Amino acid sequence: MRVLSGIQPTGRFHWGNYFGAIKQYIELQHEHDGYYFIADLHALTTIREPAEIRANVKDAALDLLALGLNPDKATLFVQSHIPEVSELYWILMTGTPLGLLERCVAFKDKEARGIKADAGLFTYPVLMAADILAYDSQCVPVGEDQNQHIEVCRDLARSFNAHYGETFVMPSARIVKDTAKVPGTDGQKMSKSYGNTLGLFEDAKELRKKIMRIKTDLRPMEDAKDPDTDHLYQLYSLFASDEQREEVRALYLKGGFGYGDIKKRLADAADVFLNPLRERRAVLASDEAYVARALDQGAQRARKVAREVLDRVQKACGIK
Ligand code: ADP
Ligand code: TRP
Repeated sequence: MRVLSGIQPTGRFHWGNYFGAIKQYIELQHEHDGYYFIADLHALTTIREPAEIRANVKDAALDLLALGLNPDKATLFVQSHIPEVSELYWILMTGTPLGLLERCVAFKDKEARGIKADAGLFTYPVLMAADILAYDSQCVPVGEDQNQHIEVCRDLARSFNAHYGETFVMPSARIVKDTAKVPGTDGQKMSKSYGNTLGLFEDAKELRKKIMRIKTDLRPMEDAKDPDTDHLYQLYSLFASDEQREEVRALYLKGGFGYGDIKKRLADAADVFLNPLRERRAVLASDEAYVARALDQGAQRARKVAREVLDRVQKACGIK
């Protein structure tokens, strides 16, 4: 099965990105034909600094490789290295009803936050549809917030197929519900936009400091507390073993513990998990040729598929 997902290089990856998205990509590479790309064209809707985007793409590649994405198993590439996708984007645009895009929550949210919308931001879901359809993707692992975009993609594929004949493979979203919302340091959803992130590859000392500053409530120590509604417990659960989790859960239910103690346990568990990744990333960062080769090999493989799909699409709509 062809599995595809993209991630925007708009900043360093945080725990939410990893547990909500990247972790699933990496697991799926073992059993499926994984296509994973760094969505630099999408990032252009928010980053207009050439040096920043260049650095972010490189960081994203290093992060993904350090997290275990294996370029010999999966196809890892940069979105803009496949020009066929941009052509497909245009063709899909000619069949996209405006109302479909007007209903998209991501666009509406940004507009509501006062971010001036340009056509790129508005048509963002169509580019995403092109990303998916260009590789005959069958399964698209994403976070909950991207589900609506997959629906847009399915709508566009369905109406193209209905009008021009069977051309596109119909993709499905794959969403992992229980990790759908990783909370940030303030208890809201962890997000770059809220400034409440804990970075995957953040300096270990800085990270520990941030963990110790996680917001908690002021209830007395001796009170019993519900672990299932507590963001500190949710964060700890991401890294803890089953026994560790049960032990802390029992503490919550019984009361008589300090949040400082849980924070220390969280920082320790995060270190155990992150230290080997940090080491792997440092090794990769010193081997630029390896990273360049991995992305190049990925682009070649992806481009071959995208070319075939675009030929099919061009023929179907009469421009070939
Ligand atoms: P951000 O909100 O920080 O800008 P992105 O929108 O770039 O993050 O998210 C990239 C991917 O990571 C998406 O698939 C998204 O669903 C997932 N993701 C982001 N934040 C979280 C979170 N707090 N919990 C679970 N998944 C998340
Ligand atoms: N929009 C996605 C995000 O912000 C990234 C993305 C772009 C993507 N194209 C895609 C995800 C295609 C899955 C499939 O997270």
